[in-house]
Amino acid sequence: VGRGVLERLARELAAEPPGRPLVPISDDRVAVLHAEPLARRLRHGGVEVLPVLRFPAGEASKIRETKARLEDQLLRLGVGRDAAILAVGGGVTGDLAGFVASTWCRGIPVVHVPTSLVAMADAALGGKTAVNARGAKNRVGTFHQPWGVYADVSLLATLPDAEYANGMAEVVKTAAVGDASLFRWLEGAVERLLARAPAAQAHAVEACLRVKARIVRRDERDCGRRAALNFGHTVAHAIEAASAYREPHGRAVALGMCAEARLACRRTGFPASHLRRLETLLAALGLPTRLPAGRRWGTRSLLAAARSDKKARAGRLRCALPRRLGRMPAGDDVTCEIDDAALSAALGALAARGPRSD
Ligand code: GLY
Repeated sequence: VGRGVLERLARELAAEPPGRPLVPISDDRVAVLHAEPLARRLRHGGVEVLPVLRFPAGEASKIRETKARLEDQLLRLGVGRDAAILAVGGGVTGDLAGFVASTWCRGIPVVHVPTSLVAMADAALGGKTAVNARGAKNRVGTFHQPWGVYADVSLLATLPDAEYANGMAEVVKTAAVGDASLFRWLEGAVERLLARAPAAQAHAVEACLRVKARIVRRDERDCGRRAALNFGHTVAHAIEAASAYREPHGRAVALGMCAEARLACRRTGFPASHLRRLETLLAALGLPTRLPAGRRWGTRSLLAAARSDKKARAGRLRCALPRRLGRMPAGDDVTCEIDDAALSAALGALAARGPRSD
């Protein structure tokens, strides 16, 4: 993690290539900005790199059909089991290219070069790969640990403000579930982070990856404590689905954390003062803490969307709820079953106009 990480990547790939050739996969926007220049730099350093395989940017591409099209291109290029995939992009690219790598010739290595804050701080690490299937998010996928993850924060300079704020939601989430001192540091670093100071970005990303690595090492296959990383996500996925995916993931996660922290106040003793600190930090980072006026999806449609989420067990909703900022409950199961009445109340509080409504 840091600046100049791509130079290190070039050196390490030249010295010990995970596969030959290297096949870069990127969306058509990031291909021009980052994947093509990186491929040229690697070739210059003596690494065998095929042309960048591209797909249209956006969540709509994260489907089985895009994976099949990429695989058709691998077939045409004669790519075999000695190759490795280089995933250059945000969360969609990492999930899609990781999935391609995990099934191509029964699995070839993947190297992640995340270019968005969401991907750097969360998605690229931990081996989850997936595509959506008929609107069901991440329904088809695998666990496939990467050969390496190289997060160069200088790539964040080209990230649109809205996507940067989305990434900040995952940074706040990671601190909230696993690192109280990171949370305190974030509260004091808002201005530097909004100004995109590279040192502050590198500190935040590295701290998040340490938290995530600790959790994933203990529960790689997501059977227990890894669910901590889903704090805010049960409600977030419902908001995304009920808004027909018009509400961006990070904003939905911010709202989801506000709703689920309210549930935590009742279920785990999460202090009300910590709920206020969470809302204050999210608002300072430009993230919503109340449902946007004029877009109040009915509680009923949010409840239905939440129940159909893949994390619901037998139609019953479960949320990963912290005990306090930076601390999850002890034991392997960090989730609580949530009944409709409690969820409706928490969603209702999100719709209420508060001091920081937007
Ligand atoms: N992004 C949540 C996880 O990797 O488990």
